[in-house]
Amino acid sequence: MKSDFFRYQAQTTPHPLAMEISHAIGSYIYDTKNKAYLDFVAGVSACPLGHNHPKVTHAIKKQLDAYLHVMVYGEYIQKPAVELTKLLANNLPDPLEKTYLTNSGTEAIEGALKLAKRATGRSEIIAAHNAYHGNTMGAMSVMGFEERKQAFRPLLPDVQFITFNDASNLEYITTNTACVILETIQGGAGFIEPQNAYLEKVRNCCDTVGALLILDEIQPGIGRTGKLFGFEHYNCIPDILVTGKGLGGGMPIGAFTASGKLMDVLQDKPKLGHITTFGGHPVIAASALATLKEITGGHLMSEALEKETLFRQLLVHPLIKEIRGKGLMLAIITTSEKITNALILKSQEKGLILFWLLFEPKAIRITPPLTISNEEITKGCAIIIEILDEIHNQNH
Ligand SMILES: Cc1ncc(COP(=O)(O)O)c(C=O)c1O
Repeated sequence: MKSDFFRYQAQTTPHPLAMEISHAIGSYIYDTKNKAYLDFVAGVSACPLGHNHPKVTHAIKKQLDAYLHVMVYGEYIQKPAVELTKLLANNLPDPLEKTYLTNSGTEAIEGALKLAKRATGRSEIIAAHNAYHGNTMGAMSVMGFEERKQAFRPLLPDVQFITFNDASNLEYITTNTACVILETIQGGAGFIEPQNAYLEKVRNCCDTVGALLILDEIQPGIGRTGKLFGFEHYNCIPDILVTGKGLGGGMPIGAFTASGKLMDVLQDKPKLGHITTFGGHPVIAASALATLKEITGGHLMSEALEKETLFRQLLVHPLIKEIRGKGLMLAIITTSEKITNALILKSQEKGLILFWLLFEPKAIRITPPLTISNEEITKGCAIIIEILDEIHNQNH
């Protein structure tokens, strides 16, 4: 299968990890030789309940037997999508109430940016350096990393960049600004949390000039930081909330949520302001609904903070400079890019899955399923320390 993978399936890098998957369950992925890998990545935060959670697979199977795709998004009343958007609304603060379901996080970002432009009648968008919001032309226009987007210019005009956590840049937000788009916790940049009431300050500036605030919660959302959404830690409610990844419980989804009044703007002038065939797909919505019920109805969120403490206790080593992030959205920052690369590759050999972050070469992603046990955390961290000891001993 490996040669067919390289020959027929398009690659995104010259060096994919190319692990050949057989099956996955709980916190483990198994390769075709039946080697078990403890998963500290959870499909890059997309599998909050681990792999093949019985409540999720049951909901999917039940929906499979009822109906698959029947109509483009938004025309027919389909129970899984209605129940999902209602449950989201019931777990969100005012005025966030009405949700548009999309096929991916990137598409939800596109929808959110379009909504902001349409609602304000303004064109300027303010985004942050080192931000990642997805890879289509619009989402890439608000990516704060020139190296990865230069080849695709020209992109959207009228995008300004500010430095995350630098309040002195907020003067860029003016009456020309349609929206400010930020990740609540910057992901690709290295899991950077907002500091010194930064998001509150951005919120105030937006309110003063009538600009909309979009928060991208595609990574921190759905319980990963110990609350359903990261913004709940920072006393700042966005006008438009964008979610994805973990919301689908392992299925492809994105969503943007706003007040009913704001969201209804997309219905008209022009009508069909954002349309999609498969957004809100019943099988995917059923998976998301089961996932959201499990996360909002149980102890996984509060446990995420206890598990963070355990990770921080176990991951102490001279080659670890810092652990960043919150809850189960953590990043190990090693002392060099070389050590980071070696640790990720060697951990795979030893049966532990780790992964990189997009723009911070010294960072290692630790975003396990929220369902990971303390024993599994202890086992995985022991592998990390063992590898770091080996690297350390080689160099001394
Ligand atoms: C913060 C953030 N925004 C947007 C996206 C894009 O989501 P998707 O890959 O589902 O299109 C991602 C994906 O990694 C992300 O981390």
